Amino acid sequence: MNIIAKEQYGVLGDPISHSQSPAIHNLFASQLHQTINYKAFHVIQDELKKFIAEYKKRGGKGLNVTLPHKTAVMEYIDEISPRAAKAGAVNTLIFDENKIIGDNTDGIGLINDLENNFHHNIKNKNILIIGAGGASRGIISPLMEKEPSSLTITNRTASKANRLVSRFQQYLNIDACGIDALKPNQPYDIIINATSAGVTSTSIDFPCFIIAKNTICYDLSYESSPTQFMLWAMKNGAECAIQGWGMLIEQAAESYLIWKKIRPDTSAILKQLNINASSQVLRRL
Ligand code: ATR
Repeated sequence: MNIIAKEQYGVLGDPISHSQSPAIHNLFASQLHQTINYKAFHVIQDELKKFIAEYKKRGGKGLNVTLPHKTAVMEYIDEISPRAAKAGAVNTLIFDENKIIGDNTDGIGLINDLENNFHHNIKNKNILIIGAGGASRGIISPLMEKEPSSLTITNRTASKANRLVSRFQQYLNIDACGIDALKPNQPYDIIINATSAGVTSTSIDFPCFIIAKNTICYDLSYESSPTQFMLWAMKNGAECAIQGWGMLIEQAAESYLIWKKIRPDTSAILKQLNINASSQVLRRL
């Protein structure tokens, strides 16, 4: 009997039990009539190096990397893609014949969701990113490549936003300020919440004057119901508020494309995951 072993893929993180990646990648594989073995691995910081070496030895083909390892994992790879280097973070590992390559599909995942799924173009828009941690860093270059009019990074701790922006000095239309220094009467077209407030369940306190009636608000985090950022945005008159389910699915599709050289159709995945479309996006009536 000729037994063909399934190709091994997976996602590693700490914690990992909440991850939707196995469900998403298995839906992709069945849609494309392919068989893969995609598992979630709980890997703590101290075990990261050993885990990757063993996974490679066992013939694993690819891994997604999630919090808190997206930066630490860069130490254990042989090659990094230009976009992952710019982001300073890796979310996709490719195990080639004799090397491990790190890539990052988070940024393109956000762009695909905003532009292709929701038809909100970034070109010529004034964009505000709230938060100056790893989540913001990964989306700055992909957003700038879409030629917005301006990109402002604001953060509770202003110095962290200033430090982050100094990494992107090649762009002229990017600036930083503390949340308390945001200017009244200067609303934004697109506001992206890249803080960890949703994950850590801490409350947010953003000035309502950054929202105008045509403002699109996008929360990089996602939950089964509308996030506090979405509710805040709608309460203050935004046109719509979206949470990051689409970005999650789109970044996964880009990883799948890298590994399997074919891009899954993402349009039905949200429904198949039983995510209620009415909690993914809120629109002003
Ligand atoms: P990540 O890699 O997920 O971005 P991080 O590096 O810990 O995580 O960064 C978290 C970001 O969310 C920071 O910008 C943090 O602001 P501070 O630098 O001032 O701490 C921001 N953040 C977290 N909770 C917040 C809250 N409740 N309100 C506003 N900003 C918050």
